[in-house]
Amino acid sequence: GAPPVVTPTGAETGAPVTAQGQQGAYLTTAQGVRLRDTDHSLKAGERGPTLLQDHHLREKIMHFDHERIPERVVHARGAAAHGVFEAYGTAGQVTRAGFLKKGKKTDVFVRFSTVLGSRGSADTVRDTRGFATKFYTEEGNFDLVGNNIPVFFIQDGIKFPDVIHAGKPHPDREIPQAQSAHDTFWDFVSLHTEAQHHTIWNMSDRGIPRSYRTMEGFGVHTFRLVNEAGETVLAKFHWKPQLGVHSLVWEEAQLLAGLDPDFHRRDLYDAIEAGAFPEWELGIQVFPDTPEETFEGIDLLDPTKIVPEELAPVQPVGKMTLDRTPTNFFAEVEQVAFHVGHLPPGIDVTNDPLLQARLFSYLDTQITRLGGPNFAQIPINCPHVPVNDMLRDGFHQHAVHAGVAPYRPNSLDGGNPFEAGDAENAFVDAPVEVARSRKVRANPVSYDDHYSQARLFWRSMSPVEKEHIVRAYTFELGKCYEQTIKERQLRCLANIDPVLCRQVATGLGLPAPEPDRPLVEPEPSPALSQVGKEWPAA
Ligand code: HEM
Repeated sequence: GAPPVVTPTGAETGAPVTAQGQQGAYLTTAQGVRLRDTDHSLKAGERGPTLLQDHHLREKIMHFDHERIPERVVHARGAAAHGVFEAYGTAGQVTRAGFLKKGKKTDVFVRFSTVLGSRGSADTVRDTRGFATKFYTEEGNFDLVGNNIPVFFIQDGIKFPDVIHAGKPHPDREIPQAQSAHDTFWDFVSLHTEAQHHTIWNMSDRGIPRSYRTMEGFGVHTFRLVNEAGETVLAKFHWKPQLGVHSLVWEEAQLLAGLDPDFHRRDLYDAIEAGAFPEWELGIQVFPDTPEETFEGIDLLDPTKIVPEELAPVQPVGKMTLDRTPTNFFAEVEQVAFHVGHLPPGIDVTNDPLLQARLFSYLDTQITRLGGPNFAQIPINCPHVPVNDMLRDGFHQHAVHAGVAPYRPNSLDGGNPFEAGDAENAFVDAPVEVARSRKVRANPVSYDDHYSQARLFWRSMSPVEKEHIVRAYTFELGKCYEQTIKERQLRCLANIDPVLCRQVATGLGLPAPEPDRPLVEPEPSPALSQVGKEWPAA
């Protein structure tokens, strides 16, 4: 049914009452009273004093004083664009999500970001990049809140404040502004060695992308897809840039940070305005939903692990094109609020403990950042479908809700209990079994393997890419003041690969340590999995 929200109109003019601002030909106060002068305050005579009764002066200054809102606690620096996603229809067997049905076009808004720097920091620093997409689907908003690196630093969201405290500038001197070349970062990743896999991606060319347009994006976590029949599979989301993956070299990144700190932002907007619309293919890796939630021995709930594409190929499901820059940066880019829990029917979460903590964190932070609980009513966050919720009141409530009974069932506003059929296109909580088990604060043993995939990554690199990685570790660790931290990180590198460790140690002028235990050579890759072969023809 239609939402119980009314938009009143001006009685005489018939104009819709909206919060647009800048309507009509004349300058007015916020109360709509026409102004004669906005350049001179009201004074007792030309030489003053200024009169407290000047409402326009007080309103203008008051509003200016409050123009800033808190920046995001992470991912503060970003840029975004509008576009459209068109589905190939290839995912129909694995998910009921309507926006993935063949030919369906869905509006999107994508925000790219760095993680650590503040809102005014440089674009080309060595860091992970955020890649957050809001799909305004006909079944409600779907947010794919990913990064350009497929793994994360930590396995459990309870450590997120810790890793971010370590990555942000030192609390005493607020140095460095926006990158990982400092003691607390290396202290953390060498003590919490599950971070080593994400870190080696950061030290590779992936840490300094050439452009947002040439970055991959990853949902990182494994999600659960539900099809029309209620069957489930596990899946990972990937964005593949049509321009390919390209990076800067370190010297370019450093120079650009000085010459043009807005390099990525400018590149995105210039490209769109020139009609060179950036495009990505969305793909999914699909795995059987088994009770173990593993694939080829890889724990799918461990966000520090990838599943190599040789084992589970990425299957394209649609294409995204960004074709419109924001009209107002604050209204759109700053006020957009993504959330990993914004899911349409057919896509559900898994028990990945990092994902579970994120489900709490985003709503919670946005209450502060966006001034109360009504940020879903900010235009950029509004779903492109009717909203009929029972959320009421609160700071910055914009809706004028009709009716007296925001509860169901009720006998006053015609609100009956849910009827058969109501649930047909509703969200599906996959009825996954929950093991009856002891409460614990512990990880599965599979989470103890912190090095084998970092080694896999290192060994997959070409000689020039390896050289860049060695130089990056040497540069970044070279900025540390504490010798013990450098030595501890070198031990981690020894556990990844002896050649990597030796070369970085040489660069730092330190001895190369031995690994904690002899390195185990990885098994040869198993043949392509059945999952890929079962994929339905496009
Ligand atoms: C913001 C990605 C882990 C808390 C963001 C943004 C991205 C992102 C892309 C920026 C969104 C935007 O552009 O507005 C990721 C990925 C993660 C991860 C891919 C791991 C796979 C976490 C965890 C937490 C967390 C574990 C907390 C437990 C936050 C917060 C923000 C944020 C508080 C700011 C949100 C806002 O102010 O709207 N994250 N994140 N993130 N993330 Fe994460």
